[in-house]
Amino acid sequence: MSNQPAVPDKQVEHQHTDKGYVPVYTTAVVEQPWASYTAIDHDVWAQLFERQRALLVGRASDEFLVAQDAMGMTPDAIPKFDELNDILAKATGWTIVGVEGLLPELTFFDHLANRRFPVTWWIRKPEQLDYLAEPDLFHDLFGHVPLLMNPVFADYMAAYGRGGVKAHGIGPEALVNLTRLYWYTVEFGLIRQADGLRIYGSGIVSSKGESIYSLESDAPNRIGFDLERIMRTRYRIDTYQKTYFVIDSFEQLMQATAPDFAPIYARLAAQPSYPAGTVLDGDAVFHRGSGEGWSQDGDV
Ligand SMILES: [Fe+2]
Repeated sequence: MSNQPAVPDKQVEHQHTDKGYVPVYTTAVVEQPWASYTAIDHDVWAQLFERQRALLVGRASDEFLVAQDAMGMTPDAIPKFDELNDILAKATGWTIVGVEGLLPELTFFDHLANRRFPVTWWIRKPEQLDYLAEPDLFHDLFGHVPLLMNPVFADYMAAYGRGGVKAHGIGPEALVNLTRLYWYTVEFGLIRQADGLRIYGSGIVSSKGESIYSLESDAPNRIGFDLERIMRTRYRIDTYQKTYFVIDSFEQLMQATAPDFAPIYARLAAQPSYPAGTVLDGDAVFHRGSGEGWSQDGDV
């Protein structure tokens, strides 16, 4: 008999979304099977952690780096959710819950609205250090969880969850608008600090290549945050972004997203969406992208 805890089977379904058919796992919350992580798993965590932290000093926002330190995450071993929760719950009332992977939208929104962040318990394989199509423990824990220590960002995430529940009730077009907001802020947002542009989006901080590309490449646009403009902008799921949107502060994000979105969705329903790489006349342009290396199709 093994002393290893039983690792729950991944239950995959397929659900049709605006991104096509994507794997959706069981909606159940699962206990983090910490004792089942292998030495290779811990080593993958250590390698990714050390590589990204070295890259992110001077690239990630001060808030992100401070928050990650405050959580006590280290490269030594994959953190235990229970231990992080002791710190996180005291700071902002959020908790991490273990999941198998991507959740159906309404289940995900309900977690956020109740200040629970779903974290995929399993970590990628050593040959996947640079890219993985779906979120794993490193993306979720290293990328998303630190900023939940920041009180303003923590409130934004919960408000997003409540907004998601509402949008789900309104219809698929409203959800598309709202998903773009998540994509261009929570996943791929940049922030302007006194000493320059910095990263706060989880999709960027958990990616070596995009941490450099998003800030230093001439190719992408960097444009000031504008709620309705973002809600109309398509995005990339299989390449780096063509456009990054820049906020001034998390307070700006919170204030801009405070109003009821229902009238905005109604207004936007009659308007066309913008391709991911478009620059508009009214944009506050920090950098107009050269477009080098962009694929001409594939915006979602
Ligand atoms: Fe994510």
